[in-house]
Amino acid sequence: MREAGVNLVNLGIFSWSRLQPGPDEFDFEWLDRVMDLLNEGGIKVDLATATASPPPWLSHQHPEMLPVLADGVRLWPGARQHYCPSSPVYRDAARNLVERLSARYKDHPALVMWHVGNEYGCHVAACYCDVSARDFRAWLRDRYGSLEGLNRAWGTDFWSQRYSDWEEILPPRQAPTWPNPSQCLDFLRFSSDALLACYEVERAVLAKATPGVPITTNFMRFFKPLDYWKWAAHEDIVSDDVYQDPSEPEASSLDAAMAGDLMRSLGQGRPWILMEQTTSRVNWRPVNVPKSPGQMRLWSFQAVARGADGVLFFQWRQSRSGAEKFHSAMVPHGPIESWPTWREVVQVGSELGRLDALCGSRVPAEVAIVFDWESWWALEQPSKPSANVRALEQVQAYYAPLYRANITADFAHPEADLKAYKLVLVPNLYLVSDAAAAGLTAYVSGGGRLVMSYFSGIVDPADQIRLGGYPAPFAEMLGLRVEDFAPLAEAETVPVRFGGGQRATGRTWSELIRPAGAEVLARFDDGDLEAEPAVTRHEFGRGAAYYIGTTLDSIAMGALLEKAWTEAGVATVGDAPSGVEAVRRNGAAGSYLFLLNHRDAEVEVEVGPGVDALTGERIAAGRLRIADYGVAIIKEDSLPRQAASRGRGPDQP
Ligand code: GAL
Repeated sequence: MREAGVNLVNLGIFSWSRLQPGPDEFDFEWLDRVMDLLNEGGIKVDLATATASPPPWLSHQHPEMLPVLADGVRLWPGARQHYCPSSPVYRDAARNLVERLSARYKDHPALVMWHVGNEYGCHVAACYCDVSARDFRAWLRDRYGSLEGLNRAWGTDFWSQRYSDWEEILPPRQAPTWPNPSQCLDFLRFSSDALLACYEVERAVLAKATPGVPITTNFMRFFKPLDYWKWAAHEDIVSDDVYQDPSEPEASSLDAAMAGDLMRSLGQGRPWILMEQTTSRVNWRPVNVPKSPGQMRLWSFQAVARGADGVLFFQWRQSRSGAEKFHSAMVPHGPIESWPTWREVVQVGSELGRLDALCGSRVPAEVAIVFDWESWWALEQPSKPSANVRALEQVQAYYAPLYRANITADFAHPEADLKAYKLVLVPNLYLVSDAAAAGLTAYVSGGGRLVMSYFSGIVDPADQIRLGGYPAPFAEMLGLRVEDFAPLAEAETVPVRFGGGQRATGRTWSELIRPAGAEVLARFDDGDLEAEPAVTRHEFGRGAAYYIGTTLDSIAMGALLEKAWTEAGVATVGDAPSGVEAVRRNGAAGSYLFLLNHRDAEVEVEVGPGVDALTGERIAAGRLRIADYGVAIIKEDSLPRQAASRGRGPDQP
């Protein structure tokens, strides 16, 4: 570990059955030994609470703590994460273990952080058993106060679903056809909260035992079942697990950049930790392609570039047994010396050791992408005009042009204060609260620039249509009304023509837009909606709002966003050849420019003067060579004005 530059170990994650071999039996001696060994080696510990996989004796004695699926099937033990989040048996047993663990190690010199559970919701994100049903009803009483309030919010007059007693209410179990969508949405909220309550049970114990020790649990990028905005508020440090697919390096790099930006944003801009990645292959895809030489290093520094202050691996030593024995690790099954990846591990470890001055620095962003779990959940429930409007695909359609232009973006909750941003992007915000609608409108009227896509502002938080003409809460700001939706068939496209003559293609969606003050930038160019508006822009108050009534092809989307960011005065981090990601971190120690070459070929990038943060060598202004999958981190002599973005003039998307 010392050779690899390891200074933090995430320890004991799945060790409950070793720590507590029976209900009244505890065995901490082996863990004492590992903690002491690490401490003697100068290595700190992020100690896991070990509660993600309950021991066999617990489910044997209390089979009622096992989770139940929507169709009534109860899951068996034998893998991991087999617990009902609402189970008092599970919560009590977890609390008991964490009390003992924290009492034993609270003063241990190696302890620097607590790792609660592991990847909450990864395998079991919701439980439909009777205990969960009871818990769900309590949650609903809290939310609605009265049965009348619940009946109203869920629209239960429809399909004769009116409840006359709380006991009649169930989780949305397997039913003849679609269950009530408002009920489903509340059950998703409840299920995220139920797991958060499990986390809280443990966090409360730890916070009391060791008030100064930070607490985290590892997230999983854009993980649908958990509302990470809510969760992150309960963490001292946000941490994330990222497993790129080396068989799709381009898509994986974009995804990982996006996840990094999300993690930073969840922590309100504070540094986060890359808690898990693999050195080479995973074991859980049908075919597990290895990372190419250099790619692990590249992706490690990509996380750092996007705000991570720590990089860890799952796992230290490759297992000899169990379900993950073919998952790679820092130490392989075979001899370590001849394994090329070990050399890369050692290199990354030593390079990270040279970047201490970077710790705590921030990643500046002038653009915010509005993202909301509740809207995601509501949007992707069945029985919509189109099942092909998928939240993450739409977010990516906005993110990709920024990423390619080296414009860093934050993610923002719809009710966040957006004043600091020059440009706000709103991909398909189907569900919107009154506060969010008011906030976004005030942002534009106060001088902000905003771009919004179709099917936004359609329902309220109860998933009830906002009446008064679509998109009711935004119609005035956008200067238009949508008369009706006209989703496109699976493979159908529609031509779109911009005012300047440029042609584009729309897919997934079209709609009949009636401008009421908005300027038409592009029109549909064929079909029933021929000559009707497809893209608009509206000056509203001191700002302006763009609206897109279809999914534009990536070139047109990029050009439209460029028009918007140019108008907003958003700066790029710098010009770099395609395939080279440029990100900047600023801190007390100065400004660091990260250049990440995702290409399998050497590139040259124009840079300003500075010092190579990895080698300490001076870098003169001019062209800098970066090897295939290479990384340059330049401590810049002075904070450069971020390269001005190039505009293309009006009507030229
Ligand atoms: C994560 C998990 C680890 C390990 C890893 C394999 O989901 O936290 O325990 O299973 O994936 O890639």
